[in-house]
Amino acid sequence: MTVGGLDGVVVAETVLSEVDGEAGRLVVRGRRIEELAGSVPFEEMTRCLWEGLAPAASGSLDTAAAVQAALGKARAAVFAGAGPLLRAAFEIPPEPPQPPLSPLPPLPPLPPMNALRLGLASLRPAGAADHVVATAAIPVFVAAFDRARRGLPAVAPDAALGQAADFLRMLRGEPASGAEAAALDAYLVTVAEHGMNASTFTARVVASTRAGVLPAVIAALGALEGPLHGGAPGPVLDMLDALRGRHDARRWLDAELAAGRRLMGFGHRIYRVRDPRADVLKEQVARLRAATRDGRGDLAGRLALAEVVEREALAALADFRPQRRIDTNVEFYTAVLLDALGIDRSLFTAVFAAGRVAGWTAHVFEQERANRLIRPQSRYVGPRPALARPAGAPA
Ligand code: ACO
Repeated sequence: MTVGGLDGVVVAETVLSEVDGEAGRLVVRGRRIEELAGSVPFEEMTRCLWEGLAPAASGSLDTAAAVQAALGKARAAVFAGAGPLLRAAFEIPPEPPQPPLSPLPPLPPLPPMNALRLGLASLRPAGAADHVVATAAIPVFVAAFDRARRGLPAVAPDAALGQAADFLRMLRGEPASGAEAAALDAYLVTVAEHGMNASTFTARVVASTRAGVLPAVIAALGALEGPLHGGAPGPVLDMLDALRGRHDARRWLDAELAAGRRLMGFGHRIYRVRDPRADVLKEQVARLRAATRDGRGDLAGRLALAEVVEREALAALADFRPQRRIDTNVEFYTAVLLDALGIDRSLFTAVFAAGRVAGWTAHVFEQERANRLIRPQSRYVGPRPALARPAGAPA
C-alpha cells in the first residue's frame, strides 16, 4: 500500500509535543502553547525542548539564564568568525569598474534562505555545541544579510540580550522597544516546536544517517522554505496588500480559488479546526498595538483588514470545499505580526527558522538517542527489462 503524503503514518515517538488536530490543541513538553507564548522567553522554551535530550557534554544549560548566556556568547563567536563570509558572500561590494572584456554580470543578492544555508554551512563550531551554535547563528546571519542588501554594515550582537531583542537590534541598528522584543519573543516560542511537520521530519531523516546537527538543520531549512510549509507568510502579506482598500475581497478570493490557487495562511494537514497558534499570534498583534499606539504604521487598520480578509476567506473556502474544513493556520497572523515589527516579508521564513531551530535540534537528539536509519520504500511502477528467456525455450 502506498500512502501519498504519509497521512496518518506515525514515524517516531516523541516527548516534545502533541498536535491534536481535532481539538485544535498544541502541547509542548506538557504545557499548552497558550500558556507558554508571551509567558516564557524563547530561551526557557529552548531549555525545555533540549532538556534531557542534548548531550551532557554540551555543558549545563539547566536554566533559561544559562541558555541565554550560551546563546549570547555563541552569537558573538559566530559574528566574529563570520567576518570573511559576511564580506565575501553577503555584503556584495559594489562592482569595481569592469574592464571592457569582463564577461560576468554583477551577481544579484542571494535569496535570504540561500544566504542562511550558506552561513550555516560555513560554521566551524569551536568551543560551543552545534545545537547552541546553530540556534545562535540564525538571527546573526539573517540580520547581517538583510543589512548587507540594504547597503548597511552588519551590527555586532549584544551577548547580554535575549535572541528576540538582539535580532531586532542587529536588524535595525538600534534597540527595539520592550513591547516589540516581547512580541517577537512570543512568536519564536509559538513556532519553536510542532510535532512531525515536514521540516522536522527532514531533520530527523538526516539525523538518522548520523550526519549530525548542522546538516540536519540545513536540510530542514530547505523543507521549511516551500509555500506549503514555512514559505506561506510572505504570500499572506501579498494577499492582504492586494485586498487593501478593496470592497470586493470575497470576489477576489473566489477568483483565486476558481483559478486553482490556494489561499495562503489557511488549511493544515493535521488541524481540522483552527490552528491554536493563530489566536496566540493575533493576541500578540493586539498587545503590540496597545503598547505602541500605532507607532509603526497603522497597525489598527492592518489588524482590521486582516480580520475582514480572514472572515471572507473562511467563507469562500467553506463554499468552495464544503466537504473539508479548512481553517486559519499559524501563518496568517505571523504575516501581520512580523510586518508590524518592520521585518521585510522576504525574511519571514528565515525568522520562522530562528524559532523552529529549537525544535529541530531537540528532535535531532531524540532521533539520535534511539536511532534507526529512516529508510522507507517505494513501489516501482516503471518499465521493467524484458525477462531473459531460458536457453532452449521457444521464442
Ligand atoms: N486554499 C485552497 N485550497 C486548499 C487550501 C487552501 N489554503 N488548503 C487545502 N486546500 C485544498 C487542497 O487543494 C486539496 O484539494 P485537492 O484535493 O483538490 O487537491 C484539499 O483542500 C485537501 O486539503 P488537505 O488534505 O487539508 O490539504 P493538505 O493536508 O494536503 O495540505 C496545506 C495542507 C499544504 C497546509 C494546505 O492546506 C495549503 O496548501 N495551505 C496553504 C499554504 C499554507 O498556508 N501553508 C502553511 C501551513 S502551516 C505550516 O506549515 C507552518
